[in-house]
Amino acid sequence: MTTKNFKSASNLNNWVFFCLILGLGFSAQGFGAEPEIQPKPVVQHSQYQVKNFDGLLGKVKGLDDALLKMHFKLYEGYVNNTNLILQKIQELTRTGQNKTPEFAALKRLLGWEFDGMLLHEYYFENLGGATANLDAKDPLMLKMQQDFGSYDQWKTDFVSTGLMRGIGWVVSYVEPKNGRLLNEWINEHDLGHLAGAKPILIMDVFEHAYITQFGLDRSKYIDVFFNNINWEVVSNRFKKKNETSEKS
Ligand SMILES: [Fe+2]
Repeated sequence: MTTKNFKSASNLNNWVFFCLILGLGFSAQGFGAEPEIQPKPVVQHSQYQVKNFDGLLGKVKGLDDALLKMHFKLYEGYVNNTNLILQKIQELTRTGQNKTPEFAALKRLLGWEFDGMLLHEYYFENLGGATANLDAKDPLMLKMQQDFGSYDQWKTDFVSTGLMRGIGWVVSYVEPKNGRLLNEWINEHDLGHLAGAKPILIMDVFEHAYITQFGLDRSKYIDVFFNNINWEVVSNRFKKKNETSEKS
């Protein structure tokens, strides 16, 4: 072999070797080698805080403070669990475990805990009213008359919904299509909500809300609830809803 031929053969060998290494690299990626998992950024969200409703103690006529304190403690559990579930979902997603049964189970549970948290806050906030009745000229009163015929008919519908068998909530909503006032039954915390509707008045009818004081007499509890509605809060929710609708 001449020197020239030897160099050509050497260059050819180098080229074949290079292609072989390159090919092995591609085939290693394409046939089963695990790609290195890149760490995903951790997004920090502020935690939901437990609201303090101790201001209601001694101010809800006919409802024992002991029952209210127990109810506050129960509400706290929903806040803590909502934070915990969101944290776990984020961790599963970050570590590539977002197609697991654990991820699906937590996603399904989130709405139950989150709604349990928020509905309790709405409920406590619309209790402890200083006035027993909604003012006759209040825009919400006019809306009740417009959509139900009278306040009494609105109330009958709300109370009847609350007396339904089962555990859950009654929510008086303004729905977003025609702005109609509707009283809805929410099964447990998360089933039956109207998409995009604005909650105006919320009543808890889980047994824990009344059974230690009223036994199975839910109607007595509902009477007490109606005697203690904070109509100022409820009316303001309705007014805010209207202001938002006018802007949008
Ligand atoms: Fe409750």
